[in-house]
Amino acid sequence: MLRIDVPGGSYLIETLTAFYPTSLWIYAAIGVCTFIALFFIDAPYGRHMRAGWGPSISASLGWFMMEGVALLVMPVCVLLAGVEITPLMLVFLLMWCGHYGNRALCDPWRMRDSTKQMPIVIMLMAVFYNILNGYTNGWHFLVNNHMYDNSWFTDPRFIIGVLIFLTGAFVNMRSDQILRRLREENGPGYHIPEKGLHRYVASPNYFAEIIEWIGWAIATWSLPGALFAFYTFCNLAPRAGAHHAWYQRTFPEYPRQRKALIPYVW
Ligand SMILES: NC(=O)c1ccc[n+]([C@@H]2O[C@H](COP(=O)([O-])OP(=O)(O)OC[C@H]3O[C@@H](n4cnc5c(N)ncnc54)[C@H](OP(=O)(O)O)[C@@H]3O)[C@@H](O)[C@H]2O)c1
Repeated sequence: MLRIDVPGGSYLIETLTAFYPTSLWIYAAIGVCTFIALFFIDAPYGRHMRAGWGPSISASLGWFMMEGVALLVMPVCVLLAGVEITPLMLVFLLMWCGHYGNRALCDPWRMRDSTKQMPIVIMLMAVFYNILNGYTNGWHFLVNNHMYDNSWFTDPRFIIGVLIFLTGAFVNMRSDQILRRLREENGPGYHIPEKGLHRYVASPNYFAEIIEWIGWAIATWSLPGALFAFYTFCNLAPRAGAHHAWYQRTFPEYPRQRKALIPYVW
């Protein structure tokens, strides 16, 4: 069986297993706090980057470090815990690593020429969150391993969840690609996106990211998966609102019927 052996491994596994229920409460509390805080503070990266948040690093390095942690922690937890790598587990690992491989390796590569910065404190907060998220989602497969025998492959929750996840992932990547092309086609700075779901909402990439992790939550039928989807909403809904308000302030010609996050709704 594939497994990472570390000195004192059994003590570490016992400690991480004992901490698991508490970590879920901490995760839920962080989601609620994030949602409330982001209604008062626009997270200072991207177009909302501003002085007063301490030293900064290049945005591409920041994305590589915070998302690289996310890419590693969940699979490392699964291997550390000695969870059997069945074909089903391989699918879950591929879903996770596919998403975070794109985010940690491809996205920073695509923005490598950018002069954009990000505050180190934002990067560190994201690293902390990604450790918690990777640990809870990885450890779930040890604590609830009995759920995932081969019959899970034909369970409607798995099939529907995977389809929702893939749809979200596709729309997320496509929406990010449309944004990136704006600068290739129109020069530096910000432009009004007019393609794909951007015609309906300010942040279709965020909308799709939330859908993606709802798909993960359904496919794994897990509490950490549900918390991940909940946190993604808590983090990205206020930011979509901030993007929407920013577009309205910045571009007088910004389409009035366009919503912030959910087409036709908000
Ligand atoms: N799961 C989570 O909690 C979470 C949290 C954060 C991000 N994410 C995901 O990470 C990805 C990137 O997030 P983000 O917050 O950087 O998204 P974003 O603000 O929409 O920006 C995405 C990229 O497009 C550029 N861009 C955005 N609007 C533009 C415009 N009107 N004209 C020209 N360029 C534009 C941005 O440049 P600038 O950087 O220069 O603004 C950035 O490089 C998204 O797919 C998001 O869903 C997930």
